[in-house]
Amino acid sequence: MSLTEEIKKRKTFAIIAHPDAGKTTLTEKLLLFGGAIQTAGAVKSNKIDVATKSDWMEIEKQRGISVATSVMGFEYQGVKINLLDTPGHQDFAEDTYRTLTAVDSVIMVIDCVKGVEIQTEKLMEVCRMRNTPVICFINKLDREGRDPYDLLDEVEDKLNIKVRPLSWPIGMGKGFKGVYNLYEKKLNLFTPSQRKLSDDRVVIEDLNDGQLEKLIGESAANQLREDVELIEGVYPDFDVQEYLEGKVAPVFFGSAVNNFGVNEMLDTFIRIAPSPKSRYTEDREVKPEEPKFSGFIFKIHANMDPNHRNRIAFLRICSGKFERNKPYNHVRGPKPLRFSNVTQFMAQDREIVDEAFPGDIVGLYDTGNLKIGDTLTDGENMTFKGIPSFSPEIFKEVINKDAMKTKQLEKGLKQLMEEGVAQYFTYEMGNRKVVGTVGQLQFEVIQFRLKHEYNASADFAPMNLYKACWISSTDKKQLDEFVRSKSRHIARDKDGKLVFMAESKAWLQMVQDNYPEIEFHFTSEF
Ligand code: G4P
Repeated sequence: MSLTEEIKKRKTFAIIAHPDAGKTTLTEKLLLFGGAIQTAGAVKSNKIDVATKSDWMEIEKQRGISVATSVMGFEYQGVKINLLDTPGHQDFAEDTYRTLTAVDSVIMVIDCVKGVEIQTEKLMEVCRMRNTPVICFINKLDREGRDPYDLLDEVEDKLNIKVRPLSWPIGMGKGFKGVYNLYEKKLNLFTPSQRKLSDDRVVIEDLNDGQLEKLIGESAANQLREDVELIEGVYPDFDVQEYLEGKVAPVFFGSAVNNFGVNEMLDTFIRIAPSPKSRYTEDREVKPEEPKFSGFIFKIHANMDPNHRNRIAFLRICSGKFERNKPYNHVRGPKPLRFSNVTQFMAQDREIVDEAFPGDIVGLYDTGNLKIGDTLTDGENMTFKGIPSFSPEIFKEVINKDAMKTKQLEKGLKQLMEEGVAQYFTYEMGNRKVVGTVGQLQFEVIQFRLKHEYNASADFAPMNLYKACWISSTDKKQLDEFVRSKSRHIARDKDGKLVFMAESKAWLQMVQDNYPEIEFHFTSEF
């Protein structure tokens, strides 16, 4: 198969959702349709259970599970689908943001009872930064949820994207009977099943078919005809190009646990979702069809065995063919790297592979050479853009509890930060070190891992900080002057970039007003 054919065959995406909306359940149903698993219940949730929050071993075990399910590859109707998992716990949101840089599109699950929730809004903002195409799946229609028209309005308002329903629910709650496929203009009626895929389906091609009444009852049949007429009148025709540009989100309704509406979405997904797209370096566009290999590391996962500090680095292939045992240019590093242990993930299994293509994700065994954001190429010196850090929400100062173990502490912190566990800032004055995270849980994970993997002990002292803002200015003199006058609040991030540590929202606003020539950014990429 030629490189172009390999690329066309692939679709790499992630499912994102507010916890509990049904991401794990939907993943499982997609794997069932792909024939990658035979019965439901095989996919483990990567949720970190609140009840086990204080049990570190349990967290580590659960992190182990999440490695196994980091990428789930499967084939469906001749398409190679790479589904990337995103952490269920919102304290690991930064992991999710990074995963989104490695996909070409996203399926967003929304609970029809709860509507658009906070985490969904945040994730959508990240998708919008890169114009990632989004498909919405409104789930749990077997419950008495909100009115479908209201839900569509809410998605448009809160997520700030135009919507276009491509399937429509027939009834809701106890009266939920299935979905009408607006895209293919047909109705598949399945027998609901939680455990397996049902083959008993009745297909109705024409809504005026008298059979409809017999199957779903007169009132539901009339309601469906009315709804379809209304939708087709209100919404413009679905434009695939607009979806691909991230301007309109097609919406599907269903019930993942009952297998309703999943097939309609998957069939449409494989037709419209983008194949691997170009990626951008600081200097140029890299097209997937380019013959020379290039790719970037978006996630690193430490192995749990403290005696072997092996890590798995996840590489997204952007162009050309990646080959096992071939030396590649590690753009940031001093020497070329060669990988003999290249893992690909198919559903629940991992296997060693000799080659991989754009859109694929492979796991590379690494002994500490790689870090998040690194580019690997077949020669060219270039660095892919697009792995931003976001301002953390919680900040704590690192207090070294054992002066004899300073080196270990520094090494441990450096490596954990390279894995992306948290962010690290060093104040210009006094060299104070600050760890910033999205959630409380990471501090506990860091403390545990420092002790067990690096034999270092640290405490974290709470700090009263609102945001870390990366600063820039077109006027270097003004920037220097700002850094001088605010020196007590200036720090450097892990890459040495200048950061202003704002203590409160009001104060930040005041500083912004007083220094109009300085730009304040909430992400490290601007
Ligand atoms: P997540 O990964 O997004 O966090 O959600 P997950 O799939 O784990 O689903 C959260 C809960 O919602 C689960 O129930 C799951 O069974 C349920 N669920 C998923 N899809 C549907 C649906 O279409 N209809 C209904 N009614 N429920 C759905 P749970 O009680 O937390 O777990 P379980 O014991 O049922 O597995």
